[in-house]
Amino acid sequence: MSRVILVTGSNAGIGYHMVQQIAAKDKDYVVYLSARSEEKGKEATATLAKEGLTNVKFVLLDVTDPKTIASAKETIEQAEGKLDVLVNNAGNGFFDREQDPRIADIDAIREAFELNLIGLIQTTTAFLPLLRKGEHPVILNVSTDMASQDYLVNLPACRLHCVAYNTSKAAANSYTISLSKMETGVKVNSVTPGYTATKLNGFGKYGGGFRTAEDGAAMLVPWALLDKDGPTGKFIWFDGTEHAW
Ligand SMILES: NC(=O)c1ccc[n+]([C@@H]2O[C@H](COP(=O)([O-])OP(=O)(O)OC[C@H]3O[C@@H](n4cnc5c(N)ncnc54)[C@H](OP(=O)(O)O)[C@@H]3O)[C@@H](O)[C@H]2O)c1
Repeated sequence: MSRVILVTGSNAGIGYHMVQQIAAKDKDYVVYLSARSEEKGKEATATLAKEGLTNVKFVLLDVTDPKTIASAKETIEQAEGKLDVLVNNAGNGFFDREQDPRIADIDAIREAFELNLIGLIQTTTAFLPLLRKGEHPVILNVSTDMASQDYLVNLPACRLHCVAYNTSKAAANSYTISLSKMETGVKVNSVTPGYTATKLNGFGKYGGGFRTAEDGAAMLVPWALLDKDGPTGKFIWFDGTEHAW
C-alpha cells in the first residue's frame, strides 16, 4: 500500500537512516527527507538515490521556522494530497552548553524548548489537516530515555541530569499525551531509540554503551509504520516495551 511519510531533521543521524530503511522497505512508499539546510538535504537525498532509493524526495523544513513548515506542507499537499506518517525527529541535546541544573545556561534552555518542544508542536499542528487525509495516520515523536520522569527520579546525581535537553523532551512527551487524548483520528506515540552514537552526543563521546544510528532507526521504524490496530498515547522504551512517563 502506498504511504506518504515525512521525517523531520533527516539529513543526518537517526532520521537519515529512518528515511533509508523506510524507503527500502517498499518502493511504493514516498518518503520525504527534510532538512533545515537545502544543501545538506539535497546531498543526503542524492546519496540515497544512488542506492536506488528514488522514492525519497527532499523538502526544506526548519521546525523553528513557520514559513518553511507552511511551504513544506504546501509542497507535500500539492504532490501527494495527504500525509500518512509524520516522524518528529529533529532535535538537539545542546550538550556543549552548561546544563547542570544549579548553574544552567538559560539561553540553552530557551533554544532547547524552541527546537525540541515548540518546533515539534508547530510542525504537528501544521501537518494535522494533511494527516487527517491519510490512511490510519501516525505521528511518531522521537523521544529519549532522559524525558522519562520515572527514569530520572531513580538516577543518582550525575551528568545525565541535563536540564535543557531533559525538560524540553519531557515537555514534548507531555504534548504526546495531550494530543493522544483529542479526537484526531491520528495515532501518536513517544518512542526512545536509546543511547545512539550521533552528532547530537559527539558520536558517543560522553561514554557508555551505544548503538549505531542504523540500529537506533531500526528500533523506531515499526513505530512509524504502525498498523491500524497499533496503540496510541504510549511511551515506548528502546527495548520496544511500554515505559512509565
Ligand atoms: N543520539 C541519541 O543518543 C538519542 C537518544 C534518544 C533520542 N534521540 C533523539 O533522536 C533525534 C535525532 O537525533 P540524532 O541523535 O540522530 O542527532 P543528529 O544526528 O544530530 O540529528 C539531528 C537532526 O535534527 C536536525 N535539526 C536540528 N535543528 C533543526 C531544525 N531547527 N529544523 C530541522 N531539523 C533540525 C539536524 O540538522 P543539522 O544537521 O542541520 O544540524 C539533524 O538532521 C532527536 O530528537 C534526539 O533527541 C537521540
